[in-house]
Amino acid sequence: MSAASVAPPTGPTTHAPTVRTAYLRATDPEAGLPGGRLLDQVREELRRAAVPDDTLDALVEQAAAWSAEEAGRFTRLLGLLDDAEDRAVLVRRATLGCAPLALHSGAWLQWLPSSGNCDDPAVLRMLALYAHDVGVGAPHASRGDAYLALLRHLKLSENAVPASRLVGDQRLDEGHFLLPALLLTMSRRPEDFTPQLLGADLCLRSVGTLPALALVRQELPTATDWSVIDPSGARAEDADSGLTISRAAVEALVTRDGPAAADEVRLGFRWALAALRQWSERLHEELDVARDPVFEMAELMRLRSREGAVYHHTFPLEDKPLSDWLRECATDPYPMLEALSRSRLIKPGKPEKSPLVTGLVGERGRMFRVFSPEDLAVVRRWIGSLSGPAERGAGLGGNPVLSEPPALALSAWDAAAEAAGAEAAPRDLREAYHQLLRRTGSPALRDWATTYVHGWLGRSRHGIDRGGMPLPDRWTPRGLRPWLVEMHDQHSEEFERGSEDELPSKEALIDATVQQAPLTLIDGAWIAGFTDYAHASSQIGHSLFDTYWDELGNGEAHLNHPLIYREVLDEMGVHLPPTASREFAQWDGFRDGSFELPVYWLAIGRFPQTFLPEVLGLNLAMELSGVGGSYRRARLALKKYGFSTRFVDIHNTVDNVATGHSAWAADAIDTYLSSITASQGEGALDTAWDRIRTGYRSLNPPSGFRARQAGRRAANLAARGRAR
Ligand SMILES: [Fe+2]
Ligand SMILES: [Fe+2]
Repeated sequence: MSAASVAPPTGPTTHAPTVRTAYLRATDPEAGLPGGRLLDQVREELRRAAVPDDTLDALVEQAAAWSAEEAGRFTRLLGLLDDAEDRAVLVRRATLGCAPLALHSGAWLQWLPSSGNCDDPAVLRMLALYAHDVGVGAPHASRGDAYLALLRHLKLSENAVPASRLVGDQRLDEGHFLLPALLLTMSRRPEDFTPQLLGADLCLRSVGTLPALALVRQELPTATDWSVIDPSGARAEDADSGLTISRAAVEALVTRDGPAAADEVRLGFRWALAALRQWSERLHEELDVARDPVFEMAELMRLRSREGAVYHHTFPLEDKPLSDWLRECATDPYPMLEALSRSRLIKPGKPEKSPLVTGLVGERGRMFRVFSPEDLAVVRRWIGSLSGPAERGAGLGGNPVLSEPPALALSAWDAAAEAAGAEAAPRDLREAYHQLLRRTGSPALRDWATTYVHGWLGRSRHGIDRGGMPLPDRWTPRGLRPWLVEMHDQHSEEFERGSEDELPSKEALIDATVQQAPLTLIDGAWIAGFTDYAHASSQIGHSLFDTYWDELGNGEAHLNHPLIYREVLDEMGVHLPPTASREFAQWDGFRDGSFELPVYWLAIGRFPQTFLPEVLGLNLAMELSGVGGSYRRARLALKKYGFSTRFVDIHNTVDNVATGHSAWAADAIDTYLSSITASQGEGALDTAWDRIRTGYRSLNPPSGFRARQAGRRAANLAARGRAR
């Protein structure tokens, strides 16, 4: 086969930045994606689904049947190749092509639960499905992590951590980012796309392991845990399968929201199936073309042409300098490859005798280290094919062209696009509480929340070293566990000492319980940011996600802390409106001050990265606050008046200092500080520790005049910094 018979690999196209930008933006755990025009653009994409409407059962069957057939097509492609090197090319390209989606397997569910809806049984199903994907309970146990293991096995993982780095991987073209970019974009606007996301989810589970991976699995059956990569599979022997839980989540949603939601679920399903088919078809085409060694060689030349053209002005190749050839490579590498193959640099069929990959790139050669070992393998494979057996590349026929990737028309990224319909910043605490219960919000709300957090932290820092701070002045690598046990003893002693004290009156108990409702009914809000896919499975974040998962009852309504709290309120004769309703925030039984701390939780929970050390400190204070002491005391009071003690009992156990939330909270801090030492040296420890201590104190900051003044100063400073 002549070099010219394969069309040049696709170069960058006009829409290229959009797809990668979309992917990059949507992987940001603090992403504030605008509404307005962007949402219209996403809806337009969804409506382009070329799969006809049908019942959900029929769609599930259709997806499974397509997947099986498509997997067969990929393995047949592999079957055409005898040479191990050629097979490895297909394995590499299939693995890389699936990476942007497979490294985020399940991530589209990451924001479905929010502080305003996580007492809803339908949402608890979604959370259960997501916890399953994340592999809750262990670090690096997500489906994406299993895929990362495959990339590592193949030595392809250099751009895979964090997964957003993939956008810089030149081996991947835009087409591979399209489906995940749209899924992740929708994941950041859960209030706008819940049914469509669940429909797409059900489609992906019905498809199971991505068809192209069938050939990888055939070649490398033990390279990773394939059962984890398959999103339809169960995570434990006695657990439900991903497909079963996905179906249950869809049913719960449709039961809650009715037939209109069912239509949107099917739309999401049909879109995902159409997009998968289109993408898979093109990946198949890519692998097919890449069977011919000249394709990868042309791709390599095009990639290197710009840098290469700077040199080689004096090196002639046939009628012109090599630098001119290289310049032309940017658009069409094949003429140069033909000339090169006729030159003395190449001995056709004999890479071991070709100066291009021997002398020139050797230690003393002029092109030493110009090609990476992977590049050299591509060049050698090409030279080997030049006079190799005619079957090399046979079957491609004619003039195969790798088609352009489909475009993704998402361009309305800038907040300005939303400015017209933007909500103003909240007028007061109650309004802020209501707005922050949702995952999405206007840029004005985001700015308001950031300023509020800075102000709160400024207040928390006030007089921090003047005593009363339980955390030690310095952190040592021994960790916080010994300190934790001491604190537990202290709580217990305080409880014993106070056992003679009078318990509050019934009225006072009810009032305290009611005023705490805006806080307790959003249990877990301070760590809501850790549902983000990368954080939920990270070394530091996995235990925070696990804590969040526990607060919300591990997907079970009868274990859901906010619902258990509502039971006590009901027993007290206090029947509150739904947490997410405007009436709740405006309910006149609450005092304004009862929203101060909850709003802080909701605000800081949106920034798991910006305020990571503060959240870690706050989380420890939060989980430790009741155990051993105040929960036990609250129990006595509740019992005295005949109210259920379940809420405090459950917390005194799940937050325990040996294996419970407070132990995990301490471990997360120790892990974080150890990683800081490892990455930035001990010098960075003091700043990080100070921020953790501030976070710890922020659960219960000083409230005097000067402290509040310090808070206002910090808030103003932050607002001014943003304005600059
Ligand atoms: Fe809780
Ligand atoms: Fe807890």
